[in-house]
Amino acid sequence: MSHKKVYILSGAGLSAESGIRTFRDSDGLWEEFSIEEVCSVQGWMRDRQKVSDFYDARRADLASKEPNYAHKALAELKNRYSDEIEMLTQNVDDMLERAGCKDVIHLHGTLTELRCESCGEVFFVGYGSQEGKTCPACTSDDVRHNVVMFGEAAPAYEHLRELYNYAQMVVVIGTSGQVIDTVYIAQLVENSVLLNLDIDENIDQYFKTRIYAKATEGIDEVVDLVETFLEEK
Ligand code: APR
Ligand code: ZN
Repeated sequence: MSHKKVYILSGAGLSAESGIRTFRDSDGLWEEFSIEEVCSVQGWMRDRQKVSDFYDARRADLASKEPNYAHKALAELKNRYSDEIEMLTQNVDDMLERAGCKDVIHLHGTLTELRCESCGEVFFVGYGSQEGKTCPACTSDDVRHNVVMFGEAAPAYEHLRELYNYAQMVVVIGTSGQVIDTVYIAQLVENSVLLNLDIDENIDQYFKTRIYAKATEGIDEVVDLVETFLEEK
């Protein structure tokens, strides 16, 4: 591997200051939906229309949101060190892309795409409803949100395996670690940085550097740490 490799993994805390609620802050509720009802395969099997309406509402909500300073700082950093930095996110919003970040890897899918259940084609839907949409590849109308639900596989997790093998530095921003095992990652990679708002000693103790702040307030320190690591001989 000719380049040094830095993996940046973000969660809902990165987008909180853009007005996009985190999962744990919504105490398991999105409007009148319970997360189990609309974010799980069981819920999807039980009531497809309710789940599709839920994702339509979240997609429409994105249209009024803006990337925050942390998204912009990360986009600038990634584009400056495009080969050295991998930008992974658990978020399904498009704030990093709207901040100009290229090659964002969405581990849990994205709200702005739909997936064809007949042929697997993934296609752009933007912030619109999925009502009446058909697959551009096979014209099937059996299309769904391209967001990973609890109980189904997350194909993009192959990028986590790459992180395990190649990361020389990892930066974890704004995630509770409830879904992706950030303790494992912090123990694996000696040069580990955490930027988070809440303290969770059970997790945080494994990180070499910890910055407790809102993403927009701590991101400059993260950028400095990554630049220093990448520039040192
Ligand atoms: N700046 C930085 N961190 C913040 C901010 C902020 N402004 N606001 C909240 N946080 C932190 C919280 O301290 C918490 O640790 O962001 C984290 C949000 O945690 P969760 O709500 O659990 O979101 P996340 O970790 O991304 O959830 C992971 O769970 O529900 C599933 O698939 C879904 O991708 C999601 C996954
Ligand atoms: Zn199709």
